[in-house]
Amino acid sequence: MTHSYRNNMTKSTKSIRQRVYLKKQLLLLALLAALILFITGCTLNSEDNGEEENDDTGEVENEEENGKEEESGEAENDDDEEAPAEPQTLAEELGIEKINRTMYPLLTISYRADATHEAEVLGEILKKDPLEATGIVANGWIRVETDNTEAYIHQAFLSEEEIETVTWGSGEMEEEMILIPNPKEIDAIVNKELALAPDFHPDDLVQPDVIWAEVSNFRYMRAEAAEALEDLFDHASEEGLTLLGRTGYRSYEAQENIFINFVNNHGYEEARTFSAKPGQSEHQTGLAMDITADSVDGGLSGDFGSTEEGQWVEENAHLHGYIIRYPRDKEEITGYIYEPWHIRYVGVDLATELYETGLTMEEYFGRIQ
Ligand code: DAL
Ligand code: ZN
Repeated sequence: MTHSYRNNMTKSTKSIRQRVYLKKQLLLLALLAALILFITGCTLNSEDNGEEENDDTGEVENEEENGKEEESGEAENDDDEEAPAEPQTLAEELGIEKINRTMYPLLTISYRADATHEAEVLGEILKKDPLEATGIVANGWIRVETDNTEAYIHQAFLSEEEIETVTWGSGEMEEEMILIPNPKEIDAIVNKELALAPDFHPDDLVQPDVIWAEVSNFRYMRAEAAEALEDLFDHASEEGLTLLGRTGYRSYEAQENIFINFVNNHGYEEARTFSAKPGQSEHQTGLAMDITADSVDGGLSGDFGSTEEGQWVEENAHLHGYIIRYPRDKEEITGYIYEPWHIRYVGVDLATELYETGLTMEEYFGRIQ
């Protein structure tokens, strides 16, 4: 029995051991499976997180960064090469060459918001007061810094040197004038305030090939002006009109003799309404010519302006670079009576501007009266 029992016991113990063993095996398998799952899960998680990071942040950031770089790259390219910023002013449109120099106004003049006589007047600057020039615009206007403002003044009224003066006459005729620094410039302004030095004389004088009103020693002009005069006279001739030349270049001394003669015959006050003092005459620049026609007997009179020839000159002189320098109704500005016979070469561009605007050189360049 015992044996049997034992046997039974043994059988029973074996069976229990087998079950325990199996359970252990299962538990081990389960643990192994759990471990595998855990490891796999971790790996999957870490891959998922990586992707998510890339998707949500890394890649997006990169895309954004790339985008920004591309955009900024494109923007920089736009600025530098492909699409330059739109010019805001005429000065920018024409182009400004940077400079850095002190300049001096020849007269009390206005300064403007842009490089054109049409721009808003921002203020005025007193003659001789130094100002800082920061740029030259292609059309001859100078960018200046004044009262912490950027403004523009035409170079015709500016000097790079300190202003020099000269005095002519004595008694009631004594007058101080400012010497212009640019007497050879085609747009140089010569008037009752701005004068040429006594020793200034152009070095390219030639005799224009035109018909003359009288025998004269004053048939010369500067080469460019002479050629343009020939074109003007030829043009008139094509329209059936004959213009006559009369007086071109006059030296300082010649002008002095003429002026004193007029003073002797008409008195000082009257003489200076139609004759310039020495140094103040455009005839000394070699850029002016007195012209006439047979319809006024070759004379220099206001009647020339009413003749067919005079009318034609008024309407067509600018096409060849000439202006009527002393127009009707501008006596207060120019200081001289209407002289339809006195034409001045300034080049086609400026002559056309002056013709179209009806302005004198003084007005156009900003002279303050
Ligand atoms: N008649 C002009 C003003 C001159 O004498 O130059
Ligand atoms: Zn003249």
